[in-house]
Amino acid sequence: MTADDRRVALVTGATSGIGVEIARRLVADGLRVVVSGRSVERGEAVAAELGDAASFVRADLTEESAAEALVAAVVEAHGRLDVLVNNAAIDHTGPLLDTPASEVRATFETNALAALACLQAAGRAMRDAGRGGAIINITSRLASIGVPTMAVYSASKGALLALTTAAAVELAPLGIRVNAVAPGMTRTPLFEAWAAEQPDPAETERRVAASIPLQRIAVPEDVAAAVAFLARPEAAYITGASIPVDGGYLAQ
Ligand SMILES: NC(=O)c1ccc[n+]([C@@H]2O[C@H](COP(=O)([O-])OP(=O)(O)OC[C@H]3O[C@@H](n4cnc5c(N)ncnc54)[C@H](OP(=O)(O)O)[C@@H]3O)[C@@H](O)[C@H]2O)c1
Repeated sequence: MTADDRRVALVTGATSGIGVEIARRLVADGLRVVVSGRSVERGEAVAAELGDAASFVRADLTEESAAEALVAAVVEAHGRLDVLVNNAAIDHTGPLLDTPASEVRATFETNALAALACLQAAGRAMRDAGRGGAIINITSRLASIGVPTMAVYSASKGALLALTTAAAVELAPLGIRVNAVAPGMTRTPLFEAWAAEQPDPAETERRVAASIPLQRIAVPEDVAAAVAFLARPEAAYITGASIPVDGGYLAQ
């Protein structure tokens, strides 16, 4: 296989946490991977660590036409786009009834609208190339359950879950598969920061782990493994699915 035959993946939000591990895993699977995010420093460091198969393209997905420009940059650099991982997101915590509209908008802009715009731009590139493709949306267990103070984030991830099933049906004739991966609590900088703010971080971690049937908090590798599987040709008959990577939490 020549370098140009290798499939190309775009991973949004790959300057931190789960996205970095997804990029690493896709590179290990032989794909060329474009790492994206807002932080140039972290993005370039991730791409450098992953070697020649990886490169970084900066994008703030809340900016006008950012998704379109990002996908265009990938296609221009690599000549193709086969896999999109919609991973970029922001967290939001706060009492539902008192959350200002500006915070609701900001959460939806990144977690739902930017992901939708990336899906549209990547889907058009895949349609034009006529080779099909795989789109994987990183949602959350909170797309399906309620946790106090997480309603706005939940609703944004619920929108992404609904988009997954609707897009899977509409894009299936084009050979474009659309699936979701729904992580439970996962050890990332986001989680560590949250745990550190708790009155007793060690006790908090024990309590969280005890609430999970598999009795541990996920690591980014757990999520990346599911994404890598959905990106592979052997997942050719899977579309419109949502795979929970939550240690059995949703099964309770
Ligand atoms: N960690 C968990 O417990 C957990 C649980 C369930 C679901 N998830 C989901 O898993 C995914 C990854 O989470 P994580 O914990 O790895 O989060 P993280 O460490 O905070 O990483 C979030 C990524 O999103 C990027 N991002 C945020 N806003 C952006 C914007 N406007 N434009 C472009 N990129 C933007 C960030 O890039 P920059 O900082 O460079 O802008 C960063 O790379 C998210 O979709 C999250 O909702 C996480």
